[in-house]
Amino acid sequence: MTNTRYVHGYSTREWERLTDQANALSELLHQDTTCPAGSVVLECGCGTGAQTVFLASRNPEARIVSVDVSAASLEQARRRIQAAGQRNVEFHQASIFELPFDDAHFDHAFLCFVLEHLAEPATALKAVQRVLRREGSITVIEGDHGSWFCYPQTAEASRAVQCLVEVQAKLGGDSLIGRRLYPLLLETGFREVRVSPRTVYVDSSRPGLVESVFKNTFIAMVEGVRDQALSLGLIDERTWYKGIADLHRATKRDGTFCYTFFKAVATR
Ligand SMILES: C[S@@+](CC[C@H](N)C(=O)[O-])C[C@H]1O[C@@H](n2cnc3c(N)ncnc32)[C@H](O)[C@@H]1O
Repeated sequence: MTNTRYVHGYSTREWERLTDQANALSELLHQDTTCPAGSVVLECGCGTGAQTVFLASRNPEARIVSVDVSAASLEQARRRIQAAGQRNVEFHQASIFELPFDDAHFDHAFLCFVLEHLAEPATALKAVQRVLRREGSITVIEGDHGSWFCYPQTAEASRAVQCLVEVQAKLGGDSLIGRRLYPLLLETGFREVRVSPRTVYVDSSRPGLVESVFKNTFIAMVEGVRDQALSLGLIDERTWYKGIADLHRATKRDGTFCYTFFKAVATR
């Protein structure tokens, strides 16, 4: 996968966005991600290691094997894990579609915000299934950009967010994938599939969340597709800038924002 295919790119700003996202959402998303001591855990699409640090710290007795296609992101992930003093993680540059591991090698697999970027998420899950042992388990966490709302909300703000959905779709991804985790895992042959919605709601009584979740994660993601949205003619400039300004308006004292992530667990 090249830089141009990944909708959010590999910039320093994206590194910061992923870090903010992971830090702000760690309790909501990871509080119940635990593996027994001695487990061998595969993390696919680890990126810059923003989720890896939580996985490693919550499961100090597990061995975490994290893979990503991007060498640059893996380098940042290594530095992050080193800085955190964690010793239970190893990194490999590999695609989820060609995992360089034996069949049934892992006890657990963990994917966070990866399937939404893949044109063939079911094929990716099949590839992960191959390297999981029988009765092994999988955790998949994804967002769904159809799940958001804010106050005040304008037609221009909704249109700007819709541009992110459409740009990602043009790159072969699906930013509405949260709602599809259940059917995708069933179709792949996983058993005991359980999906739980994880809703984050923010208002100015929790200014830290307004900054990290709404501004630095959600709005930053939308702003990131400006050039593609304008050059593809998905929106005109006036509507774009009004939409972005309106999203920022909802970060003010009387504004609110809500978004739902989906966390699925299943058995091989
Ligand atoms: C949105 S980032 C998520 C990173 C990390 N999981 C997190 O939540 O911070 C998606 C990651 O998936 C990686 N990726 C995309 N296609 C991949 C593939 N075929 N195999 C492995 N990783 C892939 C990208 O390089 C990127 O680092």
